[in-house]
Amino acid sequence: MSIKILQGTAENISLAAQMLRDGGLVALPTETVYGLGADATSDTAVASIFEAKGRPTFNPLIIHVPDVQAARGLVEFNDMAELLASQYWPGALTLILPRRADCPVSLLASAGLPTLAVRVPAHPLAKDLLKALGRPVAAPSANRSGQLSPTTPAHVVQSLGDVDGYVLAGGKCTVGLESTVVDVTGDVPVVLRPGAITPEDIKMLCGDVVVELSPNENNPKSPGQLLKHYAPKTPLRLKAVDVAPDEALLGFGSLKFMGVRGGGWARDLPAGRVLNLSETGDLNEAAANLFAMLHQLDTTAATGIAVMSIPDEGLGLAINDRLKRAAEG
Ligand code: TXA
Ligand code: MG
Repeated sequence: MSIKILQGTAENISLAAQMLRDGGLVALPTETVYGLGADATSDTAVASIFEAKGRPTFNPLIIHVPDVQAARGLVEFNDMAELLASQYWPGALTLILPRRADCPVSLLASAGLPTLAVRVPAHPLAKDLLKALGRPVAAPSANRSGQLSPTTPAHVVQSLGDVDGYVLAGGKCTVGLESTVVDVTGDVPVVLRPGAITPEDIKMLCGDVVVELSPNENNPKSPGQLLKHYAPKTPLRLKAVDVAPDEALLGFGSLKFMGVRGGGWARDLPAGRVLNLSETGDLNEAAANLFAMLHQLDTTAATGIAVMSIPDEGLGLAINDRLKRAAEG
């Protein structure tokens, strides 16, 4: 397996769109950095982004759309968002807004959060690809976790050479730095990640601004620790080898020998209280199901969620990191 470079012809744009539709990975040029893109509406396609990057955690990803109209279909806009979008889209600005109730984007892509990061990139190839696809694209920077963000197709190949997918070649990124991330869910815009669009730019437009740089891969003071993630209200119990009668069960692999404390089998618990991340023990499938299943089990009357052991390898590392933090919170 290796990543292949596609020149930015009309034919290759259709090919790349079809790859994405089929659940594949396509690195795409944006004016900031190259992104490693997947169909944002597919849990398994999004899981494969994390697998390819070798990310130790599931950070929420930026969702790319061709225009503001498409963005309005995913998140609840407000006046501030409209103002910022009309001034800076397409461009190096990412807006954090509440997900719409009917938002089709994978919960894994936003780490289970009720908000979503959306951006309209200005690079013409990105725009053409997003239009041809007609679906939102989740894309973090197209590099292995911990490496530098790529600003040329060659950088992507250097970092992700062994990934099964394509790089749509669109030259050198003109901005070369990740987009400015602004949370516009409150009364005042909050800059969460600095970028080419500065706090002064935002203040000029919106009248006020707050800067609150959260740790992320560009600011690795305490990597991953404070990143926002979904935490279920129901307490989690990890590495469970049995399940209490009043608990829900999040399984992994076969449930055949999973017993209920005091007698009985987990498979006989009330419907809806038992979900399985992957019956066959497939970590990619488990990652894809993780946030959706946690959300679902959080709506039952169970007093806790027993989670079966998941191997600490490949995507299992990210799943366990997520589960540990959810169990502590
Ligand atoms: O320029 C860019 O933004 C590039 C290109 C490819 O678009 N993308 C990029 O994505 O840098 P990524 O996944 O490496 O960075 C996503 C950033 C992180 O800082 C993450 O914490 C933040 O966006 N983020 C995403 N969703 C969020 C949310 N719901 N709430 C708060 N922050 C969020
Ligand atoms: Mg990055």
